[in-house]
Amino acid sequence: MKISVIGAGYVGLTTAACLAEIGHSVRCADNDEAKLDLLRKGRVPFYEPHLEEIVARNCAAGRLKFETTEDAVAGSEAIFICVGTPPMDNGEADLSAVANVARTIAQQATGRCLVIEKSTVPVQTGQQLKRQLQLYAAKGLRCDLVSNPEFLREGSAINDFFHPDRIVVGVETDWAAEQLREVYRPVLEQSFDCPAHKDCTHRRNPAWIVTDTNSSELIKHASNSFLAMKISFINMVADLCEAVGADVSKVTLGMGMDPRIGPAFLNPGIGFGGFCFPKDVQAFVRIAEKAGCDFSLLKEVEKINKHRIDRFIEKVRQELWVLRGRKIAVLGLAFKPNTDDVRFAPAIELLRVLVHEGAIVSAYDPQAAEKAKAVLPDVRYCASPYEAAQGADAILIATEWEEFGNLDGDELTRIVARPLVVDGRNMFNPAEIAARGFTYISIGRQPASDADDVHPAHAAPDVLAVRK
Ligand code: UGA
Repeated sequence: MKISVIGAGYVGLTTAACLAEIGHSVRCADNDEAKLDLLRKGRVPFYEPHLEEIVARNCAAGRLKFETTEDAVAGSEAIFICVGTPPMDNGEADLSAVANVARTIAQQATGRCLVIEKSTVPVQTGQQLKRQLQLYAAKGLRCDLVSNPEFLREGSAINDFFHPDRIVVGVETDWAAEQLREVYRPVLEQSFDCPAHKDCTHRRNPAWIVTDTNSSELIKHASNSFLAMKISFINMVADLCEAVGADVSKVTLGMGMDPRIGPAFLNPGIGFGGFCFPKDVQAFVRIAEKAGCDFSLLKEVEKINKHRIDRFIEKVRQELWVLRGRKIAVLGLAFKPNTDDVRFAPAIELLRVLVHEGAIVSAYDPQAAEKAKAVLPDVRYCASPYEAAQGADAILIATEWEEFGNLDGDELTRIVARPLVVDGRNMFNPAEIAARGFTYISIGRQPASDADDVHPAHAAPDVLAVRK
């Protein structure tokens, strides 16, 4: 099909590239000319595993093109709106970019076409969009509005596109549902060559869920808010574990075995970040308020999350006594591994507080240093974790990048001022890291005890510790 994707951010570009990969002819638009130029040269302006190669392959095959919004929507059979909906001061989503795109579509699109709202928007936005499209429509245009929320996670977005659990579509006409089914047919039937995994074993046909547009819009906000709630819940359980001498990793093991709870999203730490959960929880609270429902449960979720950094800093302070003048290495800047995104990253907030307290901070991240530098220039960014750890009084883990699990423990103990690791992501096995001579503080877990009985000789050779 002839498809346009408006917005070349994380969601839009991934969607455009993956739709081209499954055989559609895709025109992707953005109002940032510099970004379009970069993309036309085959360069992706952010880090997402596999994305650049998919973009390059499909551009070369002529299935993916980058154009202005006006050019991209003309003659399209399906137009995906993937522009940003950033938070305003009152927590509500700013829908101005969505509204502008709607007007351009109304004026430039032709014939009968699908207009698919993929940006995360408050419930009932579809109805407003439909009205805008009707009000400004050029002669002969007939738009069928669809809500099709995305469930892509940064860092595994390609896999999530090709192997989703479910595809949700909120429609007003059977024709729209049929058309969208056609768009996604290769994914629904899992009949494509998987670009992310050779000999892919992830194949399971996703559920196809057809609803009305309001329900579809709510599915997105309710899903993200529920996941955020799970994280804040387990963070409180972790605090309780510390207070009463229990171990949160054992508690989550026992809880997660219940299929009604499940083991995912029960990792405690320094809190959730990124451009989705924090803004979506806020927006959902506002949506509920406006609809006359008091969703104060979610206000608690936010409050707990905000407090995670203070609590983590308190752990560091308990070990170092004063922070002013202490050398601290922070490993990890991105809001989670496998991305260079630092928006609302807990690591960035952590750095801010440390700098404010007068600590001498060195930071390392495999991908996100450039983006972190742009928001926090007063930190020393290092080319390796060892450079960051040189002379450090403490090493703090803020993002659980896999490479941190393979650090050379002997080298680290040799170069630090004090072998102290405060782990905000529970990456390491407490007994093994302690056996290598580190003081190890994590979240909601007990320090290594004699009962753990791990001798350095039994720990994995040459690496700091084995991931849980
Ligand atoms: C999230 C959702 O998981 C996606 O389904 C959704 O499509 C996306 O938002 C979106 O709305 O666009 P994402 O923000 O990329 O995806 O990242 P997640 O993997 O969900 O992680 C979010 C944050 O929660 C990270 O800071 C992560 O470190 C934290 N987290 C996650 C925890 O602290 N504990 C956990 O157990 C899981």
